[in-house]
Amino acid sequence: MARRKRTRYVNRDGFARPKPADMSRIVGLGGSLRAASFNSGLLRAAAELTPAGTTLELHGVADIPLYDGDQEEAHGIPAPVAALKDAIAAADGLLIATPEYNASIPGVLKNAIDWLSRPTDDIARVFGGKPVALIGASPGGFGTILAQEAWLPVLRKLGAAPWFGKSLTVARAGALFDKDGNLIDEETRDKLRDFMAEFAAAIG
Ligand SMILES: Cc1cc2nc3c(=O)[nH]c(=O)nc-3n(C[C@H](O)[C@H](O)[C@H](O)COP(=O)(O)O)c2cc1C
Repeated sequence: MARRKRTRYVNRDGFARPKPADMSRIVGLGGSLRAASFNSGLLRAAAELTPAGTTLELHGVADIPLYDGDQEEAHGIPAPVAALKDAIAAADGLLIATPEYNASIPGVLKNAIDWLSRPTDDIARVFGGKPVALIGASPGGFGTILAQEAWLPVLRKLGAAPWFGKSLTVARAGALFDKDGNLIDEETRDKLRDFMAEFAAAIG
């Protein structure tokens, strides 16, 4: 009889190991296409600072096409969307790193979530009761607070469970990240470490 393939993951020490039953898994979704994005950098830092016993699997929106109902009718759900839906459905929690555009949600990230909500009768499998944490970074003084607020009606519509245990809005990001978008500010890294520890504890 063929041996069942076991899921493997790479822990922070760089060694691949089978996933233990008590390991929690978070999917991280970054909402920017920019190479040196503050929000992608925030998510990478979150993966480094996620506590032992929890993994943060990083995803972006670059492969997600623009939503088009005609394309959906003709071809169904695009492969990258289906893969991301399955990853979120299998995860214990979702962490969204949202940029803020014009005091609200950036279009590319909303577009991705709209695709992920198709077809409607699959929403409960992907998002139903899913703990969702929001973080974000912007060069302005309020650090995506308005974008994070703007996500709440969307999460409510999807039946997700927004997590309010801690808040992380990273303002004046230009001084906290390097030119490649890596988070270099120790105080912010400490806050992010605390945030991840509490979110991991909440979903664990
Ligand atoms: C169209 C547009 C609108 C923006 N509106 C806001 C805003 O309302 N609030 C804010 O803090 N930053 C705003 N910004 C600045 C973004 O926060 C900044 O471009 C940031 O770097 C985007 O995130 P990223 O670094 O992850 O790509 C805006 C940027 C663009 C391009």
